Formats: sequence, structure tokens, C-alpha cells
Amino acid sequence: ITRTPVIAGNWKMYKTVEEAKEFLRALPLSTLPDDVEVVICAPYLCLPSLAEQAQGSKVGIGAQNVHWETEGAYTGEISIPMLKAVGVQYVIIGHSERRAYFGETDETVNKKVKAAVKTGLIPIICVGETLEERENEQTKAVVERQVRAAIDGLSSDQVKKAIIAYEPVWAIGTGKASTAEDAGEVISFIRKTVAAGYDWQIANEVRIQYGGSVKPENIASFLEQTDIDGALVGGASLKPDSFMALVLAAS
Ligand code: G3H
Repeated sequence: ITRTPVIAGNWKMYKTVEEAKEFLRALPLSTLPDDVEVVICAPYLCLPSLAEQAQGSKVGIGAQNVHWETEGAYTGEISIPMLKAVGVQYVIIGHSERRAYFGETDETVNKKVKAAVKTGLIPIICVGETLEERENEQTKAVVERQVRAAIDGLSSDQVKKAIIAYEPVWAIGTGKASTAEDAGEVISFIRKTVAAGYDWQIANEVRIQYGGSVKPENIASFLEQTDIDGALVGGASLKPDSFMALVLAAS
């Protein structure tokens, strides 16, 4: 099976519109490797200009959240048609920061995932255990619950196109990445969980990333794991040089 690795930057709440434009200007857009899918998930305000700048290049643009309804009285929210209208192709759903600080649940994650795949927006579904859950040996139980809930009700064709990101919460922004072996083991387990709900042929097509303190210095070890198909990167995606180093490492 050959799965194209995905290197996705999650800028979180960093960068103004001007700073975002500057970042993309610094990337060698015309010479990006063909064998890596490159995605930048930026703050909403940056998305229209980034999508325009990235047009015709290999860089895909993603949002970091979305509402599941197409429109309505939902103050402060952004819908899928709004994202698609400006050229956004990906959306991060269920990041642990949204689960922890903004009341995101397995149920809202599932609604968002279903709404996204219905319109062809590619969801990057985030799952992962907290430190407490890991210490209580609940990692697999938690991840299994999150994965099953997130993809519940998706057709085989829809699930194949989804991207899953395994991000142990204790490894995010801490400089304390998981070991590649541990991440590989959980990610193989995630693939098995998808296979249990569908079949192995489908599960083998789903891209599953690792996220949590990924940097140019450690990315190779994660990519060596057969089931790991790229990375979702926070801090190290904010500078063009380190982001490019990650992209090239996946090529
Ligand atoms: O979505 C990205 C992750 O939360 C990882 O963040 O690379 O800064 O640890 P980090």
C-alpha cells in the first residue's frame, strides 16, 4: 500500500494576515516535492488570502475548526460553505485544545466530520489521550472511543478520504514528543479500529498522522514507522525554514 504522507501545519492562534502572506511567499511553491501532501491550517482571517496565494501550487489550505450547519443564528461561527467559497480544502476537527477549552465533544466532532465529508472538505480528525489517561493505561480505550465516535455514520468512500491525527495531549507544545515506537503502536491500533468498523482495504487507505512536538530533528523517526503517514505540526510549522525541513523529510 502506498499512502501519500501529509505534512500539515497547525498555526493555532498565531499570525496576522500580513504575516501569513509573508510565510507563504517564503516557501518554494513551484518546487515542492510531488510525493508529499502539504497543508497549512491557519486562523480564519488568513484563509482567503492564503488560498489565493496558494492557488495552482501543491499547498492545500485548511481551517482549524468549523460549524456543522450550513448557516444560521450561530454567533461567531463559520460554516463549511463559507470555507469552501474561499478555496479551503481541509479542516482540523476535534483538536484537543478545542475539546479541552471550547467544549468540543465526541458528538460535536462527529457532526462536524459528517458535515465536512459530505461536501468534500477533508477532515483532519484529532484524537489522543491526556497524561492522566496514559498513566491509567487508558490510551487505547480513549483513542478507540474517539475514533469510533468521530467516523460513526461515514460511508467507506468518505472514511477513506479522512485524515486522522494521533496527538497525545501530553506531547503537544511541551517539547516532549512521544517515542516513535509508542506513536507507531497507537497509530497501528487506530488503523485496526478503522478496519473493525469497515475493512482492512479501507483502513489501509486512511492517512494517520502523528502530532505532538514534531520538529525537523525528530520527524524522520516517526515517518519510519510503517503506519505513520505524516505529521500535524504546531510550533515547528510557524517558520518557513522548519516547515520546509519537515516537508522535505517526508519526501
Ligand atoms: O496540531 C498540532 C499539535 O497540537 C502539535 O503542536 O507541534 O506545537 O506540539 P506542537
